[in-house]
Amino acid sequence: MLARFIRKQNTPPTQDAVREALRTLIDPATGTVLDDEALVERITVDHRGVVVVLSIDAASHHARAPLVSKGANALQQRLGCDVKILLTAHKTAPHADHAASQQAPRKKASWNLTPIPHVQSIVAVASGKGGVGKSTTTVMLAHALRARGLRVGIVDADIYGPSIPRMLGLESTRQPEIQDNQMIPPVAHGIAAMSMGLIMGDTAAVMRAPMITKALHQLLRGTRWGSEEAPLDVLLVDMPPGTGDIHISLAQAVPLAGAIIVTTPQDVAVMDAKKCLLAFEKLGVPVLGIIENMSGFTDASGYHHAIFGEGGGKKLAAEHGSKLLASIPLNPALCQAMERGLCDDSLLAHYHGISETLS
Ligand SMILES: Nc1ncnc2c1ncn2[C@@H]1O[C@H](COP(=O)(O)OP(=O)(O)O)[C@@H](O)[C@H]1O
Ligand SMILES: [Mg+2]
Repeated sequence: MLARFIRKQNTPPTQDAVREALRTLIDPATGTVLDDEALVERITVDHRGVVVVLSIDAASHHARAPLVSKGANALQQRLGCDVKILLTAHKTAPHADHAASQQAPRKKASWNLTPIPHVQSIVAVASGKGGVGKSTTTVMLAHALRARGLRVGIVDADIYGPSIPRMLGLESTRQPEIQDNQMIPPVAHGIAAMSMGLIMGDTAAVMRAPMITKALHQLLRGTRWGSEEAPLDVLLVDMPPGTGDIHISLAQAVPLAGAIIVTTPQDVAVMDAKKCLLAFEKLGVPVLGIIENMSGFTDASGYHHAIFGEGGGKKLAAEHGSKLLASIPLNPALCQAMERGLCDDSLLAHYHGISETLS
């Protein structure tokens, strides 16, 4: 059994093989071969298995539900690895009123976006790549919003790689207190935060995709973020890298005021940031602007070293009619402050402007 498991884990199928296998399924909504070109939104293949996200119209959800169980089982047999099929209802039904479908944000119309009690607005901080400074930006932005007198919280949606507790100096905090079945978020520097890092400590989160979505819901809705008397003004969501399940789940779970896209200046990062930006647009989430992080380094003599190139954030913003919210240089003091869970006012200069735009 274990040997079979290891063999399965070692030989993940290619994307083409997954598509080929999908074309052996009958689409229960049409009675014909599943049209992978039209329906596949994303295929993720890794050592844990295959996740296929199909983008369907909401009206066909019921008819296509068997794909999630029977369809996935059939693919599992064929591909010899764990397969999940997820249905997302991004598309309006073909018979839906055309004008309405043009005007309404498509996805929001078909999703039940219940606000989080006592939270005024929710903003995602995302990028295509890891290591470009999403978590740093989230934390510094929270400090800047807090300095403007706003009530701020952070959800650490990076379930596998939580870094918010450390960056806020919350590492030694014990598990969150529970009251009336809700977690009470610990507060550091006046910022409330909830993270798998607080719940699981140093133990790595080992979860399959559906569990991750549950964990995200728990962090978002199982937490008492504010009260009638003291509602949270802004809840920032520190996203994991990429454009995966968490992004879809978040956009389907809560009404997002928008997303901020973080990139570094070089092309490879910009390319991934662009994918992320387009994913949010596709999910009906407004892009509030772009932040270029690690925009060079100015040495003691005043010479500017464009370490990761220049202008990527500006170019991306121009291409997509978005705003470049800030270009934040490399600053070793910022890195050290994040390591220690500290922040001082001298580090906030670049973030005040962004917080003004948001508030
Ligand atoms: N502008 C910056 N100057 C110096 N170090 C930075 C800057 N932005 C981020 N870092 C550092 O880079 C590393 C990765 O940042 P992080 O915010 O964890 O990225 P991500 O969340 O995108 O994976 C961290 O050690 C962080 O302190
Ligand atoms: Mg991070």
